[in-house]
Amino acid sequence: MINTEESTYWNQRYKQQLTGWDIGYASTPIVEYINQLEDKNLDILIPGAGKAWEVEYIFNRGFKNVIYLDFASLSSKYFKARCPDFPDSQIITGDFFKHEGKYDLIIEQTFFSSLQPLQRQDYVAKTAELLKNNGKVAGLLFDINFPFQGPPFGGSYREYKLLF
Ligand SMILES: C[S@@+](CC[C@H](N)C(=O)[O-])C[C@H]1O[C@@H](n2cnc3c(N)ncnc32)[C@H](O)[C@@H]1O
Repeated sequence: MINTEESTYWNQRYKQQLTGWDIGYASTPIVEYINQLEDKNLDILIPGAGKAWEVEYIFNRGFKNVIYLDFASLSSKYFKARCPDFPDSQIITGDFFKHEGKYDLIIEQTFFSSLQPLQRQDYVAKTAELLKNNGKVAGLLFDINFPFQGPPFGGSYREYKLLF
């Protein structure tokens, strides 16, 4: 089940091209993190993947067990149009909080910051549930509080340390 109101909001953002978060390439820290990994068999999840530059990079780097997850159907269409060779079976249009699976690695790129701050504890609990033993969340979180109403919603290193 998908939260229709929320996914409609994000689909509208894609439709109207109001996608200021989309940097148009795989973010450098994630590229560097991925480049030092040797085990190409890792099971990797990228939730709230959007146009999914990170999914594309990781897949092309030889990690074939990468799952694209986003509940906005439009975002995956853009992704698939750009990366037609990416397997359909690894593209999931669904709600992260209802997703089931077990992963070695969950990649975070502007998904956490798009959630309402009240959902953060659920994000932490859900990532913990989805990770195998010794699994990891790797990615970027804003270390700044924004002077406007999100998304994106900022935060601080201290807050994240407590949360995670
Ligand atoms: C700010 S965008 C980030 C997209 C991508 N990670 C990027 O950096 O370009 C947030 C994405 O999370 C998705 N999203 C938000 N809540 C979600 C949920 N509960 N389950 C799955 N996707 C969700 C939205 O549809 C949107 O594509």
